[in-house]
Amino acid sequence: MIFCATFAEVFEYNFCSHTAFIFMKSLLSERAQKVLKTTFGDTFVVQWERPTRKDHGDIATSIALQIAKKVGKNPKEIAELLASALWEEEGVERVDVAGAGYVNVWLTPDALIALLDGARQACTAKVKNAEAPVVIEYSGPNIAKPLGIHHILSTVVGQAIANLYEHQGYDVKTVNHIGDWGTQFGKLFVAYQNWKKKPIEDCTVEDLLDLYVRFHDEAEANPALDDQAREAFARLEKGDKDMKEFWQTSVDISMRELLMMYERLHVDIAYQHAESMYEEMMMPLIEKGKKDGVFIEGKEGALIAEFPEELNMPPAIVLKADGATIYHTRDLATIRYRTDTWHPQAVYHVVDIAQQLYFQQLICMGNQLFSDLPHWEHIIIGRMRFADKGMSTRKGNIVRLEQVLDEAVERARKKIEEHGEKIQTDDIDDLAEMMGVSSVAYGVLSQNRRMDMVFDWDTFLSFDGNSAPYLQYTHARSRSVLDNAGVETVEKPKKIQSLSEKERGLINTIMLFEQVLEDARREHMPHKLANFLFELCQEFNAFYSEEPILKAEEPERSLRLYLTYMTASVLQAGARILTIRVPDRM
Ligand code: ARG
Repeated sequence: MIFCATFAEVFEYNFCSHTAFIFMKSLLSERAQKVLKTTFGDTFVVQWERPTRKDHGDIATSIALQIAKKVGKNPKEIAELLASALWEEEGVERVDVAGAGYVNVWLTPDALIALLDGARQACTAKVKNAEAPVVIEYSGPNIAKPLGIHHILSTVVGQAIANLYEHQGYDVKTVNHIGDWGTQFGKLFVAYQNWKKKPIEDCTVEDLLDLYVRFHDEAEANPALDDQAREAFARLEKGDKDMKEFWQTSVDISMRELLMMYERLHVDIAYQHAESMYEEMMMPLIEKGKKDGVFIEGKEGALIAEFPEELNMPPAIVLKADGATIYHTRDLATIRYRTDTWHPQAVYHVVDIAQQLYFQQLICMGNQLFSDLPHWEHIIIGRMRFADKGMSTRKGNIVRLEQVLDEAVERARKKIEEHGEKIQTDDIDDLAEMMGVSSVAYGVLSQNRRMDMVFDWDTFLSFDGNSAPYLQYTHARSRSVLDNAGVETVEKPKKIQSLSEKERGLINTIMLFEQVLEDARREHMPHKLANFLFELCQEFNAFYSEEPILKAEEPERSLRLYLTYMTASVLQAGARILTIRVPDRM
């Protein structure tokens, strides 16, 4: 029997996964279900999808193909039956039966335009809900070293995820787990004493880095320096006054620069909870672990945790033989602190894939130690490759984020100048800064964070690809139409009789906004939002080049102006969630 769709047919259809059509679905599902029930006596759940091909309607269902075997009827016949019933439904303009038994539905202009209300609402952040907060930890650089280019990954992806939660009404606690503790401060101190060029208060992060690099060079020939560094750090841990002052000053210097970089990137982390904050909280937890048998003495006197064999993880050290705490110990204190302070529903760490095993061990240990922890997860960030070989990390030297952003701004400026008359701006510095910085942030955010990402200047700064400049250009274009019309907001048009293909395409894209935000947040995948915004830009530009807007007759003029307004609003709101600012003119 050939009641089933062939693979080729299903493939050709290529349904996309967005099912944002809550309104349409409830409207049409009920009717379809009723018909099926009356005819076949059974209740079937009718699912609607958005076809990727425009000539397949606004929404479609393959229910006829799914149930054909069960009810013993030809799918085409079932589809015809559904089509004639759905055709009568309010809001339906046309129904087609296609392929082996797909039902494709076109909605009336009024119904489609009404569906944009959801997108319109989604442009403003929801009011904060009463649920327990969500803790999102990201960025987490180590202090006394400048930010490297790789720091942008966790920093902007973490911020975008936090923004998605916040926009959807969650109470979000954003945290920066700054690495401000460890032997590197001992090294820095020893280097400073030996080779200082100016008082510590006058140093920049650059100076601190020079000292640090020098330490490593010299320590290769003179290992005694390492012992001195360890000793210096031990003094800091014991609360030595001079060491503490030196440490505090270098932390302050780093924090100042760090906060400047965050401002430039539109990154805002509410809690700067550095590792040193947990110093006092670790011992009680070690004691508890010992008492409960979670921590045991390992070889060479260290305190360790072991894991169930099936997890296939090496043991983790929580206390070194000399009694020093380590990274894991501080993170155990961190989850205790966050749970007790905020009683969150979830705690997320947005961190490099290189620390995957580390977090698996941590989460396992934490749950062995405490029975009251919230949902706790490592949100993995993949690696970044450089298309431009010169950008790869040179040995011992990092590619500084600040330099990359400066270069991005310079490249953006050149692009703006190349475009001459086509780009209008009163302030080229401002536009170049906006475009350059966001081209790097968006370049990261438009890629799947779990995969290897590629840093590529050509893609990042392209004016017609999936890039920040394209998004910014399209936004400015839509704003200038509104500006020329002399309006800031536009109300929903009435009495629209028909839609052109481009208008319909644009509406069908805009209406997905709400669902895309929801999916991107739930899956912690900001690139889903970025890719949607790119699709919207393409749809808008196709519409813009084909349809006159301000010169059109009514009621088309009102409709097109409304679609332009909706595009501008969605682009602006979506970009903001991705830390991107968009100009009104360009
Ligand atoms: N400072 C760490 C690093 O540079 C990242 C912090 C990750 N967060 C955490 N809770 N361990 O590798």
